Amino acid sequence: RPLLDPAPPLPALHASLGLSILALLGALYLVPSLGPAFVHANLKGRDLLKTYDDPIPESLGLVCAALYILLLILFIPFAFSDFLNGQRNAAKKPREGLVINEFPHHQLSLYLSSLLSLLMATMLGFLDDVFDIRWRHKLPIPIIASIPLLMVYYSERGATDVVVPIPLRWLLGSLLNLGPLYYVYMSLLSTFCTNSINILAGINGSEVGQALVIALSVILNDLLYLPWPIGFRIPLHLLGRGREVDFGGVWSAGMAYGSAVLVERHLFSLYFMLPLVGVCAGFMYHNWYPARVFPGDTLCYVTGMAFAVVGIQAHFSKTLLLFFLPQIFNFVLSCPQLFGLVPCPRHRVPRFDAETGLLYPSTASFKEHAPSRLATVVLRVLAAPRFVRLTADPKTSEIAETTNLTILNAFLLRFGPMREDSLVKVLIATQVAGSVFAFVVRYGLAGLVYDG
Ligand code: UD1
Ligand code: MG
Repeated sequence: RPLLDPAPPLPALHASLGLSILALLGALYLVPSLGPAFVHANLKGRDLLKTYDDPIPESLGLVCAALYILLLILFIPFAFSDFLNGQRNAAKKPREGLVINEFPHHQLSLYLSSLLSLLMATMLGFLDDVFDIRWRHKLPIPIIASIPLLMVYYSERGATDVVVPIPLRWLLGSLLNLGPLYYVYMSLLSTFCTNSINILAGINGSEVGQALVIALSVILNDLLYLPWPIGFRIPLHLLGRGREVDFGGVWSAGMAYGSAVLVERHLFSLYFMLPLVGVCAGFMYHNWYPARVFPGDTLCYVTGMAFAVVGIQAHFSKTLLLFFLPQIFNFVLSCPQLFGLVPCPRHRVPRFDAETGLLYPSTASFKEHAPSRLATVVLRVLAAPRFVRLTADPKTSEIAETTNLTILNAFLLRFGPMREDSLVKVLIATQVAGSVFAFVVRYGLAGLVYDG
């Protein structure tokens, strides 16, 4: 038997959908109309991969963030509509002795701490746009910004143990309690999610494209946990087979009816993801090749923080990381440049060739000092699967130049030079493929390594 009221709180879900449409329309309208004000305030950038020099308004992610956060604040009363309705009904019919539940303070603190983190991310992102903070200096800020989230997680005695894969159980037992280390992991998650999107950037539509695919993947994952009341039936006779498949039944039996807490958590995640999709879709329209506006670091930080927030608060941080596979790959590949082993130019975006109109891998050269032995080994290892291409110095036969260590350059090495809009499509397709793989791993293969 289901443990909970079989219907999800529809007024809240409808309100969330409505606000998401507002988010879409708001971004579609506000982004271009506020662009000139940003140029006026000197928030503008040159499109590095174009022949023209026109100033493009930068950090329009601030408009997106403001819209997103305001809509989330507007949503607060709707999130508690169940409680408010219950109270009104009890007041109307005092004789019937309906119980007035206690106000769900915990839910409110969950919600408010999440908003606080999003605001911190907006501030950090915008400051970064204005002052170009060195990335080493900005790394600790999201870690500190995640403390309210961790406190809320602690207050509800959030689990800090991980299920040990079957082959390792003889050694570690079936549950391993990571204790404080689990909190360290979660705070690192916020810094990873924000920065990893920011360093996979620089071609039109890339930042917001990634965010959109990840948000849609999270939504799809959340929907699997909702209690579908009758099960929504897909009439296969429309496809000419004459029978129905009751998806709701399959899902409900499998997961959703398991626990009311799970449903509550994934609803929370939906409330944060639906308006994000609206804002991102609206922004993407203006940021698509050839871009009329740039997102700036603000958009990367806010979207990244939104993912970290739902991953932590709704307790699915490991599934969330599976949706970040391209970002993880790009981060690991970037490490030698991020940590100073290999020179890192200010911009690592691909090189634009004005004659052909195509993008080629950009390079970093060892002009100042020859590569260390470690750098040489690392680059040779990366060159074997063609993630980078090396150029040797004809005299010393040492490495003189390497392509920049980014996934975008790796795509160009593998698939050859291409136009900017093709490259962003390759990136988005990879992100989608990563999500499909994530679902297979999470719901298919997990059974091989974990029971249940
Ligand atoms: C990160 C990357 C950097 C990349 C940059 C591009 C690392 C360590 N840093 O730096 O390599 O070059 O993002 O965003 O990997 N721009 C375009 N087209 C776009 C988007 C941006 O030409 O579609 C250019 C514009 O000149 C814009 C600038 O990139 O002004 C923004 O760069 P910024 O976000 O400040 O760079 P970082 O995040 O510091
Ligand atoms: Mg950036």
